[in-house]
Amino acid sequence: MYLVRLIYVSQLSEQFRPGDVEHILQSARSKNSALHVTGALFFNPAFFLQCLEGSREAVNQTYQQILKDPRHNHILQLQYQEIARRDFSEWSMGYVPDSARLAPVIKAYSRSDMLDPYTMSGESCYQLLLALKGLMA
Ligand SMILES: Cc1cc2nc3c(=O)[nH]c(=O)nc-3n(C[C@H](O)[C@H](O)[C@H](O)COP(=O)(O)O)c2cc1C
Repeated sequence: MYLVRLIYVSQLSEQFRPGDVEHILQSARSKNSALHVTGALFFNPAFFLQCLEGSREAVNQTYQQILKDPRHNHILQLQYQEIARRDFSEWSMGYVPDSARLAPVIKAYSRSDMLDPYTMSGESCYQLLLALKGLMA
C-alpha cells in the first residue's frame, strides 16, 4: 500500500453558509475514519487549507468527493506525494479555526499578516499545518 499526502487550498463559495464547517467536519470525520484517512483542515473567512493523508486509493477517492462540493471553489492542489508516515495520525480531520492566537504562527510562514496559501509554496503550507498541529481540535 502506498501512503500519500495531498494538500489543497480552496475559496469559500457563495453557497457556503455559517455552520457548514461543523457539517463538513462531521461528515469528513465519519467518512475519513472508515477509509483510514487522516489530516487537518484550516479555515478562515476566505479559504480552506486541507491536508489529507492515507492510502493512495482512499486519498484520491476523498479528494474527488471534495472537488465536487459546491461549498467551495477555485480548488488548487498544492502538494501530492508519497510519504513514509502520517503526520496527523491522531486526527480523522483535525480542525484549526482562525483566531488571533494563530497570528505569530501565520506570520512565520506567510509573507504578510494575512495568510494567503495561493501565494505560498506547497511545502510552506505543509509546514504551516504542522506548526498548527499543537492548536488542533
Ligand atoms: C473544505 C471541505 C473539506 C472537506 N473534507 C472532507 C474530508 O476530509 N472527507 C470527506 O469525506 N468529506 C469532506 N468534505 C465533504 C465532501 O465534499 C462531501 O460533502 C462529503 O464527502 C459527502 O458526504 P455525504 O455523502 O455523507 O453527504 C469536505 C468538504 C469541504 C467543502
